[in-house]
Amino acid sequence: LAVLLSTKAHTMQDWREALLACDPTLDIRLFPEAGDPADIEAAVCWTQHDMAELRRYPNLKLLVSMGAGVDHLLRQPGPPPGVPVARLKDERLTQGMTEWVLLNVLRFHRQDLEYRAQQAARVWDELPAPETAQRRIGILGLGELGGASARALLGLGFPVMGWTRSPREVEGVRCFHGEAGLREMLGQTDILVCLLPLTPQTRGIIRAETLALLPRGAFVINAARGGHLVAEDLLAALDSGHIAAAALDVFEPEPLPADHPFWGHPKVLVWPHAASITIPSSAAPQVVENILRAREGRPLINLVDFSAGY
Ligand code: GLV
Repeated sequence: LAVLLSTKAHTMQDWREALLACDPTLDIRLFPEAGDPADIEAAVCWTQHDMAELRRYPNLKLLVSMGAGVDHLLRQPGPPPGVPVARLKDERLTQGMTEWVLLNVLRFHRQDLEYRAQQAARVWDELPAPETAQRRIGILGLGELGGASARALLGLGFPVMGWTRSPREVEGVRCFHGEAGLREMLGQTDILVCLLPLTPQTRGIIRAETLALLPRGAFVINAARGGHLVAEDLLAALDSGHIAAAALDVFEPEPLPADHPFWGHPKVLVWPHAASITIPSSAAPQVVENILRAREGRPLINLVDFSAGY
């Protein structure tokens, strides 16, 4: 029985070592050297792996995403029928994301872009002091990542709202759901943070129509997936001054093409999908736990709900 590992070349060995540290008896095969396809009982994959390829392994019992998101595994043709998919819920991954969200919320809240522009022009000038209690944060998605960012922002004294597709309660957070709830929240959101899973329902959720609902001068932070945001619509909203600035970690496609207007835009902060990076040693225990559970036919953890898409 063997585990197929397939990820970016530079992290392959780290993952291998991290999995072996949890269970030295694992037989780990580094893709594309899978050996006998019948040996493979579990596949641990990142975005680049072709799901059609996984149909070669007749005894595959489990597919694990090496990240929080699973949209890349679920899109056509999807995992082989009947194979359960697990994703990561990892403290370090969550911590990294919380830091990145705080970094950008504070950057916008504390007028960092204006002060950098002033510095470039050697201008010594004080802007009006921002009011934390008046800066309303609206978070799209209150799952593992959105919930953690919400708590951290509440801790700093920001009023925090959150939106989910179906009703959800998070202590201290004003929660909204559904279509009408989305419109209601956006109308009062000064800094919008997207931490949703990408599903057919959430694709393009940040577009001209929804951007227009935000108050003039609002900020947009996207750390989820490029597909949540319609780039042309954001550019138009930035250029009209309706949106003040955006911090973006994710794009469609990735890498962001060299000639894309985001790169040189003075109101856009571009990150190379690095807001939070999975640390193999931190994530490996839950992966190995799931491999053992799958082998023994026990219930799996962090399972993806195919009907919900995350
Ligand atoms: C990264 O994008 C992840 O899904 O973990």
